[in-house]
Amino acid sequence: MTMTHPAFTPSAMTADQLDAITVGRTTTFDTLVDRIKGAARGGSRPHTLIVAPRGAGKTHTLHVAVHRSLADPDTTKSVLPVLIPEDSLAIGSYVDLLVEIARSIDDGLAAMARDMRTQKDTIGIEQAILAAAGDRMILLAIENLDRVFDALGPGGQGALRAWVETSTAITIFATAPTLFDGVSSRMYPWYGSFIVESLPDLTVDDAVTMLSHAALRNDNETLATFIESTQGRERLQVIHRLVGGSPRLWHILSEGIDVASLDALVPAVESLLDRLAPYYQQQLWQLPAGEQRLVVELARGWEPRTVTDLAAAVGISNQTAAAALGRLASSHWVTSAKAETGDRRASWYDLTEPLLRYHLQYREGRHPLENAIRAAIPPESQP
Ligand SMILES: Nc1ncnc2c1ncn2[C@@H]1O[C@H](COP(=O)(O)OP(=O)(O)OP(=O)(O)O)[C@@H](O)[C@H]1O
Ligand SMILES: [Mg+2]
Repeated sequence: MTMTHPAFTPSAMTADQLDAITVGRTTTFDTLVDRIKGAARGGSRPHTLIVAPRGAGKTHTLHVAVHRSLADPDTTKSVLPVLIPEDSLAIGSYVDLLVEIARSIDDGLAAMARDMRTQKDTIGIEQAILAAAGDRMILLAIENLDRVFDALGPGGQGALRAWVETSTAITIFATAPTLFDGVSSRMYPWYGSFIVESLPDLTVDDAVTMLSHAALRNDNETLATFIESTQGRERLQVIHRLVGGSPRLWHILSEGIDVASLDALVPAVESLLDRLAPYYQQQLWQLPAGEQRLVVELARGWEPRTVTDLAAAVGISNQTAAAALGRLASSHWVTSAKAETGDRRASWYDLTEPLLRYHLQYREGRHPLENAIRAAIPPESQP
């Protein structure tokens, strides 16, 4: 059977299917699985927060780690997994979160919880959920915890904290694209309560495995053989240098290549950029205009830039530019570094994602992209 792997919605596949296509990150998976099994066995309740950028594999990792833990019969017996869907748009408050938990347990409980919400009986819902779990530990998976905590507000975060503490039945397994105040600032009830895990980049070897397996699933043995050849690996090494180790990018790449485009490289990268265009465009359009212009300006060059230089290039004051760059840095669009030599006070800004630069250059129809790709190819393996 051939099937397209959903690059944006891994939860559309069963955990079993996801597990089968998983590459790399064995240490991370072992750590997470051991932690869940350990909690299920004993009374410890270690809460985990996976922090990694968009497309880094948070949802995938969460589903596969839970699935692998539950493959152990003792763990299955003593755990009630509760997976809140990824875009938990239905959550506006603590009581909504409780209703979503009830909903993912069963329909009857959900109906009961909705009634109790109408009667403002929050404690009733908490108790009904615990009763449904019996003596099992509730493994509560919450994605985009930053957004959910925003919706809960400090009061709701405190209520969740109190319920988790007093029941001693709940272990939270959460994800977020970045660290946020609700877990990293002393002012908030969940401060310091999560073990924070990041997701390592996929290596070139992981990429080779992922792409050759995808080719085989599509009955393209010629492509799989090429990918695993010395020349094919060199091509993937170049792409890895350009785009990094994000699984989503590699999945999207795997769907748009054949031997010829991979061997020539530029067409393979362009096909990736073309597929990513709507995604980057939507993200860029969500930025305020002033910040968009700074991002575009950074993308037009190849080097990190100073505040003064960027301010002049887009025609705004240094102060305005510094404030906007600060916001872009905290939302991870840009990174800043101090100079090693020369003026050590100046901060040098650059785009966090190399691919964003290629995206903007590709959309502006400029050819330096081709030169950049060529420059990333070691001389001995130029196509
Ligand atoms: N270790 C892995 N092996 C193979 N494929 C993976 C791996 N990790 C993630 N993927 C795949 O990469 C794609 C992106 O992963 P995923 O959707 O989990 O990222 P995410 O961090 O949750 O992204 P977002 O921030 O947009 O929610 C999916 O198609 C997923 O199945
Ligand atoms: Mg996700």
